[in-house]
Amino acid sequence: MTKLYVNPKVKKGHLNPELQGHFSEHLGRCIYEGIYVGENSDIPNVNGMRTDVVEALKEIHVPVLRWPGGCFADEYHWKDGIGPREGRKKMINTHWGGVVEDNSFGTHEFMELCRQLGCKTYINGNMGSGTVQEMSEWVEYMTFDGVSPMADLRKANGHEAPWTVDYFGVGNENWGCGGNMRPEFYGDMYRRYQTYVRNYNSGKPIHKIACGANAEDYHWTDKVLETVFDHGFGYMSGMSLHYYTLPTGKWDKKGSALEFDEKDWYRTLKATLKMEQLIRGHGAIMDQYDPKKKIGMIIDEWGTWYDVEPGTNPGFLYQQNTMRDALVAGINLNLFNKHCDRVKMANIAQMVNVLQAVILTEGAKMVKTPTWYVFHMYQHHQDGELMESSVETKEVGLEEDAKVPNLTESVSMSRDGKLHMTITNLSLEENYEVESVFADSRVKAVKGEILTGDRSAHNTFEAPNEVHTEEFAAVSVDGDRIRFTVPACSVLHLEVTPE
Ligand code: AHR
Repeated sequence: MTKLYVNPKVKKGHLNPELQGHFSEHLGRCIYEGIYVGENSDIPNVNGMRTDVVEALKEIHVPVLRWPGGCFADEYHWKDGIGPREGRKKMINTHWGGVVEDNSFGTHEFMELCRQLGCKTYINGNMGSGTVQEMSEWVEYMTFDGVSPMADLRKANGHEAPWTVDYFGVGNENWGCGGNMRPEFYGDMYRRYQTYVRNYNSGKPIHKIACGANAEDYHWTDKVLETVFDHGFGYMSGMSLHYYTLPTGKWDKKGSALEFDEKDWYRTLKATLKMEQLIRGHGAIMDQYDPKKKIGMIIDEWGTWYDVEPGTNPGFLYQQNTMRDALVAGINLNLFNKHCDRVKMANIAQMVNVLQAVILTEGAKMVKTPTWYVFHMYQHHQDGELMESSVETKEVGLEEDAKVPNLTESVSMSRDGKLHMTITNLSLEENYEVESVFADSRVKAVKGEILTGDRSAHNTFEAPNEVHTEEFAAVSVDGDRIRFTVPACSVLHLEVTPE
């Protein structure tokens, strides 16, 4: 019997809802078709946003949305996306498929989407090819509530009141598509650009996010922080980290989303678990400059990245989503919870039709992916308190260098005093009997839901309900403990009501 210990008396930290954030880029069919179809579309919509997608996203309580990229942000000039749509500039989306970007989705449309979702806004500014003035004016346009050229322009474009910008990214991947900078140079540029990202509304300050590292580039983290902290400066709310799960670890042959064997399964999960090493490694460097952990680690791009679905535009990054993706999501979200002392936001890449999407669309059809169901179960952690917990594990896997722990977990207490346990079983073969012990607390009631299936089970437009959560009632309660069996290849959520 595997033991899972929970101490409901020891709170380890607050779980920002933003740990379950999302990312939407002008890439492939994420924004256009996936989210925005325009007011004149036959697809039911509200102010151009497709109703089915918005409703599905509201069910998982998207807490924050990052936009407009990604690499797209590094070439985005925001003034192209405001004013009457018929007059907006058309351009080529050079990064993603070379298609025409007509700028019909711009700042006003993004803010309208966030209004419909009821989520916070995370705008990523253009430091790669944009000017300081451009970045400064964008912030003025969005947030200034007085008389000024940009506030007046916003009003002339139909939006009287300023919007709230909760987070602002000062550059994206500036070590790569955002200008191929060296960390010292970026650090200086960050100091300069962020100066003009003004806080016009002292009641709702903009949280500025510096561009952090790609995966294990610890040199970048160290040198950016050294530069930014030089002469006692050091202003930033967060620093990003990008890490994608590649089954093979190779960019030129990443592997298929649907066609994979048991070895690929464990390799993918092993690659996912590297996230913990990265959080610890970058976190240790951040601790040297920021021992009180005031600067959040913002993992604003994470998820699986496979070869694109055969027959689709290689620049659109469209991929299917299976139980393997569900496990990747469950493992990562448990990790973010466990490291909530440093990790303050994480954004899955990407929300619709791109990479590890929670939603796929085809014309008027929409499916919720297995990853959507994981977010649906894990939403109970949002705004909770992380509890002390640990589970006994053993290694599983087929190859010596691709062994993984059989189980991962995290436990939180929500404001109503209920405990939420999320458990992933990484094994493809074994079910585990678990006894969960709650220190000094008797259990009154338990209810649960589970996502399980064959390793490559997925939802299609023809069979949209192949994978979905089901009630999980097989839990016995015995005083201060509960017993249950976690099936192989599953993600489980238990809600425990203490006496
Ligand atoms: O999410 C796809 C791309 O991955 C983003 O545009 C970029 O920031 C990253 O390299």
